[in-house]
Amino acid sequence: MITLKSSREIELMKQAGKVVAKVFETIAPLIRAGISTFEINEIAERVITENGCTGPCKGYYGYPSMTCVSVNNVLIHGIPNRRTILKTGDIVSLDVVACYKGYCADATRTFEVGIVPERVKQLVNVTRESFFESLKYFKEGNHVGDISHAIEAYVNKFGYSVTRDATGHGIGSSMHEDPAVPCYGKEGSGATIKVGMALAIEPMVLEGKYQTRILPDGWTTVSKDGKLTCHYENTVILTSEGLKIITLTEEESKEYKEYV
Ligand code: MF3
Ligand code: CO
Repeated sequence: MITLKSSREIELMKQAGKVVAKVFETIAPLIRAGISTFEINEIAERVITENGCTGPCKGYYGYPSMTCVSVNNVLIHGIPNRRTILKTGDIVSLDVVACYKGYCADATRTFEVGIVPERVKQLVNVTRESFFESLKYFKEGNHVGDISHAIEAYVNKFGYSVTRDATGHGIGSSMHEDPAVPCYGKEGSGATIKVGMALAIEPMVLEGKYQTRILPDGWTTVSKDGKLTCHYENTVILTSEGLKIITLTEEESKEYKEYV
């Protein structure tokens, strides 16, 4: 069932979104060679809890942490750990969900560690750009499949692929609600978009083939071909005042002011 959000619910989700953004603002300057994915998660957990939020990922089907920290060939659900230490040239995605008074926001950023090759920069940029391309279709009367199709079409132009094994999703009082928002799809398919809809749109992009596999820990999802992967995500709400991205940092809000 798709729930449309009231203005009160949207306000609470915006509070959660500000905390998610604060996590990125806190972490961004600390991303460098030598830091572990465990330390990144510890800082994120502190920002979430010190700002009056809960982190629903912890304990979700037994998932052990509040965030997912995924390096290079790890597409999603990297479990923070002390052994995974960043080095120059890596890319690392940080996926954060925070809930404020029961209302959630979900976003992901992929950070570059030190100097990364041009080829890697392009993957990071294209993944983010595919999100903004898809937003052009998040309009009343369009279909969720229009958003999905736009992600896939944009990514494919660069020879990359999108995952078949995970999707974006509706979001609100639960972190995962209907509808599913795949990274691929047919124009005109899926639910009709209405004012009040809140979606976590999250391009999950592979440099090579789309196939993934899950490591024996039951979570860590890697590219089967071992090539690089990238993830970008925001929580977006179609309000009566227009389309709002509620998980932007201060700096991003200046860049994407049409969505603030
Ligand atoms: N943030 C992820 C999403 O976009 C959820 C993480 S799965 C969990 O759906 F196990 F970590 F909770
Ligand atoms: Co999500």
